[in-house]
Amino acid sequence: MTTTTALPYSVQWDDTHITLLNQQALPTITEFIKLYSVEDVFDSILKLKVRGAPAIGLTAAFGVALGANQDGSTDLGEFKQNVTKHIKKLASSRPTAVNLFWALKRMENILQAAKSIPAAKEALILEAKAIFTEDEEMCRKIGEHGLSLFAEGDSILTHCNAGGIATARYGTALAPFHLAKERAFPIKVYACETRPVLQGARLTAWELMQSGVDVTLISDNMAAHTIHHKQINGIIVGADRIAANGDTANKIGTLGLAILANHYGIPFYVAAPSSTFDLSLESGTSIPIEERNGDEITFIQGVKIAPDNVKTFNPAFDVTPNHLITSIITENGIISPDYVKNIPLFVN
Ligand code: MRU
Repeated sequence: MTTTTALPYSVQWDDTHITLLNQQALPTITEFIKLYSVEDVFDSILKLKVRGAPAIGLTAAFGVALGANQDGSTDLGEFKQNVTKHIKKLASSRPTAVNLFWALKRMENILQAAKSIPAAKEALILEAKAIFTEDEEMCRKIGEHGLSLFAEGDSILTHCNAGGIATARYGTALAPFHLAKERAFPIKVYACETRPVLQGARLTAWELMQSGVDVTLISDNMAAHTIHHKQINGIIVGADRIAANGDTANKIGTLGLAILANHYGIPFYVAAPSSTFDLSLESGTSIPIEERNGDEITFIQGVKIAPDNVKTFNPAFDVTPNHLITSIITENGIISPDYVKNIPLFVN
């Protein structure tokens, strides 16, 4: 892909700190914040200043490199213990996106193999940078494969933000749209607002408009009507964790859209890099689903919209069963059912 997307990098390593595009401030404020400690990194992941499965993983990897680089120990054993604590802390930030644990495992392997503190510090920075560069490459390839599934003039619906700002660059579900724009390939995108924290309205609409992609925002409850009346040709979403049988955890609301796609007979695509697969899980029933504070439902952008003390249930993700997924787009190609048989041919 030769795209020169105008989007800024949402995560950057700057030697003494990490620079983040603050995704909580978008779209009204485009603000870059500097993270100087592992605590800052943990807090930014927890509070969704950085979000999206691949971006969480690579930010945590840079967080480990940052913590290691700042460590003043002279004893290798003590150094390894300190960095292991940072890894554990970062692993406790969010439970669903497996990219977090995948990236931290890579960092832990580098840490354990190191023979000296200076060598460990250098190798950890290099590994975090490699995770970043590989993610950028994977997303570019996902864009190519994804675009091959669309025809000129298609209208495609998406949910949440699986874009450039949720990854190193380009995105997963949004990568085909950035590529289409580069190639003057006409395609219309409908973005669901994605309650409760509005990643679709605040981030996807902003990101696609930055790149000049034709995007129309709808509220979540308009999806069925829009699919029916606007000739939607397909739905594409990202993923936070894909089990060995293809069951896919993604932003809450994804399951409803997959059921709608099935009802209306349109394809339902999942786009994700191999770092999002968790082949240790047989099915989606074992994927841990994050439950977040009910304030995300009872307040919208700081404004209270529900009675005091109302009971809430706020799962951040749902699991779409494999039979509702037409295909899974990865950097290694497009996986079709039977997923149990075919996923190992593309992902290991
Ligand atoms: O809670 P979020 O905003 O981190 O949820 C993000 C999603 O569900 C994305 O669709 C997924 O992480 C893929 S990002 C390429």
